[in-house]
Amino acid sequence: MSANDTIEPTRRDFLYIATGMAGVVGAGAVAWPFIDQMRPDASTLALASIEVDVTALEPGMSLTAKWRGRPVFIRNRTPQEIEAAKAVPVAELKDPVARNANLPADAPATDQDRAAGDGKENWLVMIGVCTHLGCVPLGQQGDFGGWFCPCHGSHYDTAGRIRKGPAPENLAVPVFAFVSDTKIRIG
Ligand code: FES
Repeated sequence: MSANDTIEPTRRDFLYIATGMAGVVGAGAVAWPFIDQMRPDASTLALASIEVDVTALEPGMSLTAKWRGRPVFIRNRTPQEIEAAKAVPVAELKDPVARNANLPADAPATDQDRAAGDGKENWLVMIGVCTHLGCVPLGQQGDFGGWFCPCHGSHYDTAGRIRKGPAPENLAVPVFAFVSDTKIRIG
């Protein structure tokens, strides 16, 4: 499937579109269950994968793709953001499990097991749905410089791990792979 019609250049644009479809629950907070009703049938979804060109993303920039009806955050992290994430002992994390679909279910939530491998640790790919009640968190915000969910105040760090607030789990990492230096296949 081509990604041409699925990639939104900025998070803000994406939210405008989602807002138009579903109505708003506060600024930037989209109720995904409503949108779920508009998804194609399950057999179509099961086959769908997308390829996202990340050439334009400099360190510190991110984009939101749409995959299987959900937002996917792709962030090119700065060295400072990576260091901040690495500095946190797993024992201090609210959710110590990586939640990374590319790894075993019990993989620890180290920065290494959250980020892309093979020398691409600056890249973070995650489902952009808060693990509390499903709002879309806002990037580059919150107490830990990662993502902030305004619905009920969940703070995620620069590895997308839940650090504060009611969300129980880290943001999920979907199956993905780099198919070239600048292109990521999701799904
Ligand atoms: S849905 Fe994100 S904090 Fe409740």
